[in-house]
Amino acid sequence: MEYLDFRSDTVTKPTEEMREAARSAVVGDDVWGDDPTVQELEAYAADLLGKEEAMFVASGTMGNVVSVLSQTNPGDEVFLEADSHIYHYEVGGISALAGAIPHLIRTEYGNVTSKQLTQEIRSENIHFPHPSLICLENTHNRHGGTALSVSEVASPAKTAHDHGMRVHLDGARLFNASLYHNVDVKEYTKHADTVQICLSKGLSAPIGSIVASDKDTMKIARKKRKMLGGGMRQVGIIAAPGLVALRDMRDRLIEDHRNAKKLGDGLKSLGYEVIEPQTNILVVSTRGKFASTEEAVKVYESLGIGVAAFGINRVRFTTHRHIDKHIVSEVISRISQLEK
Ligand SMILES: Cc1ncc(COP(=O)(O)O)c(C=O)c1O
Repeated sequence: MEYLDFRSDTVTKPTEEMREAARSAVVGDDVWGDDPTVQELEAYAADLLGKEEAMFVASGTMGNVVSVLSQTNPGDEVFLEADSHIYHYEVGGISALAGAIPHLIRTEYGNVTSKQLTQEIRSENIHFPHPSLICLENTHNRHGGTALSVSEVASPAKTAHDHGMRVHLDGARLFNASLYHNVDVKEYTKHADTVQICLSKGLSAPIGSIVASDKDTMKIARKKRKMLGGGMRQVGIIAAPGLVALRDMRDRLIEDHRNAKKLGDGLKSLGYEVIEPQTNILVVSTRGKFASTEEAVKVYESLGIGVAAFGINRVRFTTHRHIDKHIVSEVISRISQLEK
């Protein structure tokens, strides 16, 4: 039985073109600034994201923590959406490494509003940590891949800037958001001081993320990356597939959105409650179907279906390049066996 892997879009394998790009990449020592392939990727990414400079990093997690390290001092307060990836899934790095204290804001679907932020920022007092940064996430993973609109990014960003704070955009899946709202990605990034995008998710590169910002911030960010051990040598080998991903794979993400919608509709017809998917993430309630999330994951595994545990009575299906509409039909058919 073929294993149908919906656990994450991070399971995507590099394309033949990416493998060939890796094989033939011209490389040099990137810590010495000698790798032309990395430079090409970084220039391309900076242009695409409308920033002065971009930098290749090992992962989205590294990109986020480098961004926080570059814009805060130990003890500073960092505002985060309560279900953010940075808070839940990055091993507390912003506290352990940057010394930041998270200030969580609970929202309906990942949308921190200007009003909420205004209420949460405290005025200067000798007792309080310095509020220096807000991190927004788009699309929002734990809320089910919700795509914030431009104004939902611009509005809290303006409030943060009005209070002298900086704005980081965790855009691990920012191209999914820009496709959903049919806007250029720069419409989002122009409101953020730093942005992180992942090459290794729906875009299918094997490794890597990008951090982009203004020149002064990137000077600090390069040093922070080195401090974390992220200064890599002949890194063009992995940057080359990243460049293919960024150039050629953005438009295909729309297929993932279609397949998530088709899967959601199929599961709803079997009586499942789902969060209506906007992009490639489908969050499904297992309440009334399974005793626990763990049981759901196990039963799906036994049917040859990989899903991610996603909180109490919730699993996540993520669509990606290796999931086509036939696989979606097949997974619905396998799950329907449980109903008999
Ligand atoms: C929203 C978001 N940010 C950051 C990351 C971290 O990326 P990585 O797994 O490359 O560290 C992820 C990974 O799934 C994510 O979903």
